[in-house]
Amino acid sequence: MEILISEEAIRARVVELGRAIEDEYRDRQLTIVAVLTGSLVFLADLMRQIRIPHRVGLYLASSYAGAVTEPGPELRIDRRFQPDVAGRDVLLLDDILDTGRTLGTLATGLREQGAASVRVAVLLRKLGRQVVPIEPDYVGFEIPDAFVVGYGLDFDDDYRHLPYIAVLDGRGQ
Ligand code: IMP
Ligand code: MG
Repeated sequence: MEILISEEAIRARVVELGRAIEDEYRDRQLTIVAVLTGSLVFLADLMRQIRIPHRVGLYLASSYAGAVTEPGPELRIDRRFQPDVAGRDVLLLDDILDTGRTLGTLATGLREQGAASVRVAVLLRKLGRQVVPIEPDYVGFEIPDAFVVGYGLDFDDDYRHLPYIAVLDGRGQ
């Protein structure tokens, strides 16, 4: 496995993102809604760099079933842990913007539920893969079209614990 983004580089960028987000949402009612499981580590680090009061809610979404590096046709979303977003300024958070299907679907749903505003933050944006037109407001890093793991991102539910982002070569090595 080849390290693409080091632990130190992620840490520094997350601090920058936190500062930009707290500046934007000062005096507003920020609710972060994070897409599990991939954004778990990013959420935990980022929320501690956003030094203004904010709420956190969660979606559980999955489009990759099993040991595959391409999303399946079905996007499953569990909304049980999502807070009431009516009138709130929502920051939708995910680990990676790939095809855009997940964030596109969720952003539309949040607007329908009466969120005052919906912005999108992703740690990674994979270039050359997007099919749903959604423009993220905060991007940690742009990366080439490769399957990456670590810092919350998985392959077949493994490798999420790695403190860096690495490119998975072949099938799971
Ligand atoms: P999208 O709906 O195609 O944008 O897919 C977004 C989801 O696919 C992310 O939340 C990730 O969980 C997963 N995903 C996309 N690319 C990768 C990758 O390179 N490694 C691990 N997970 C990925
Ligand atoms: Mg995910």
